[in-house]
Amino acid sequence: MRATTCCVLLATLIYNAGCDNWQEWWTYDGISGPGYWGLMNPQWNMCSKGRRQSPINVEPDKLLFDPFLRQIHLDKHKVSGMLHNTGQSLVFRVDKDTKNHVNISGGPLAYRYQFEEIYIHYGTENQQGSEHHIHGYSFPGEIQLYGFNKDLYHNMSEAQHKTQGIVGISLMVQIGDTPNPELRLVTSSFDKVKFKGASTPIKHLSIRSLLPDTEQFMTYEGSTTHPGCWETTVWIILNKPIYITKHELYALRKLMQGSQEAPKAPLGNNARPLQPLHHRTVRTNINFHQQNNNCPTMYKEMHYKGR
Ligand SMILES: *[C@@H]1O[C@H](CO)[C@@H](O)[C@H](O)[C@H]1NC(C)=O
Ligand SMILES: *[C@@H]1O[C@H](CO)[C@@H](O)[C@H](O)[C@H]1NC(C)=O
Repeated sequence: MRATTCCVLLATLIYNAGCDNWQEWWTYDGISGPGYWGLMNPQWNMCSKGRRQSPINVEPDKLLFDPFLRQIHLDKHKVSGMLHNTGQSLVFRVDKDTKNHVNISGGPLAYRYQFEEIYIHYGTENQQGSEHHIHGYSFPGEIQLYGFNKDLYHNMSEAQHKTQGIVGISLMVQIGDTPNPELRLVTSSFDKVKFKGASTPIKHLSIRSLLPDTEQFMTYEGSTTHPGCWETTVWIILNKPIYITKHELYALRKLMQGSQEAPKAPLGNNARPLQPLHHRTVRTNINFHQQNNNCPTMYKEMHYKGR
């Protein structure tokens, strides 16, 4: 406990001294782990105080069918970028000089969002990995596509702490024999980003082709799952997993948190623990009612008449 207080204090001091290297500090375990993110940096206080946080466990029998949710639109064309081992996660970011950005709109979104980055979360064992859980089940991995609100903001760093700033599209990753071919473009580069700080280019990636073949999704309002946990994220969880092979997962599990000289621990298990729902609604475009299930719905049998 004393070591913790001391570290937090030290971190605060460094922050106050104008340390601009904050991205380096946090981890997924120990005294810089998720329980302390909110204490490490005043700008991250939502990580401990927030009540609309992510990830969450999605309970299928508590989903609310919303007939007004539209289809999600994501542009087809390909983008190029860099895959980074940040020491905390595996992150793909589109090239800064990209001219033809991939737009995300529709679904629950009131604005047009510009796709910007992919975060890859995974476990070192098959029983865990995804940040969001479905009915208490954790998938071996989760791929999160982040975009920022292009109608209101200039870039991700501006949008992430502003209202309606971000969209997160969540793809659950399951182990299978027929892997997602687009994912292969990413997985084939894993061996080039084995250590922290390593990055490698990935060219002509179609974000749209990464998506599973479904129009069904769940959506709720939450936060980024990494610091500063800003409650500016509209989450969209697609209702089908995409597949990764055992072999690809094996390559992923070889990545390390540290450098070649000091590799530290494996990069996996980079999932923030589940956050309480606190009376939020998780909506879906899946019409359980039509499928003769007894699920909550926004369709009402009762009508009010105005005069
Ligand atoms: C994406 O949105 C931008 C405006 O933010 C627009 O200029 C561009 O044409 C859109 N791209 C496509 C492929 O529709
Ligand atoms: C993001 O946009 C803001 C506002 O225009 C600007 O001040 C800032 O420098 C930009 N940041 C990056 C990383 O481009």
